[in-house]
Amino acid sequence: MAEKELVISKIKEGTVIDHINAGKALLVLRILGIGPGSKETVSMVMNVPSEKMGKKDIVKVEGKFIGEEELNKIALIAPKATINLIKDYEIQKKFKVTLPEVIEGILVCPNRNCITNSREPITPRFYVFVENDRVVAKCYYCGRKIKDVDKYIV
Ligand code: CTP
Ligand code: ZN
Repeated sequence: MAEKELVISKIKEGTVIDHINAGKALLVLRILGIGPGSKETVSMVMNVPSEKMGKKDIVKVEGKFIGEEELNKIALIAPKATINLIKDYEIQKKFKVTLPEVIEGILVCPNRNCITNSREPITPRFYVFVENDRVVAKCYYCGRKIKDVDKYIV
């Protein structure tokens, strides 16, 4: 690690999400369902210098091993995120997030006439894929394509 890199304390046990695109940490927390009422100890830095990315965000959730399936949803907004599962201060497992083919919940369909926006109790579902280097979501129900996924995260 470069000496000038700004760091937050190492954690004893839990999940570290590193190499998050700069500025996206708050959306990462939202995707993981961490917010008002959450009990976990969470630390976060935004816009710290990174050799690989220029700038990046980091999120550390203590005392909790977040499941791989849940973590992969982060790829929607931070395709380069690295996950580090920590036990007794040591990294037990390190992996990169992979974009799921289908995502449920999280996104809302921008099409007001979509059945997911009616009174029907239907969970939004999207196909997700990369197009021109960008993550794109396509509604399973109405086919509407979302190119700026950040804006449709609930
Ligand atoms: N980390 C932590 N607590 C620990 C161990 C590591 O919070 N007990 C964090 C580090 O601060 C870093 C991330 O986990 O943000 C990955 O740690 P490490 O692999 O040591 O750093 P790098 O080599 O820089 O990671 P990479 O190779 O993924 O860039
Ligand atoms: Zn739709």
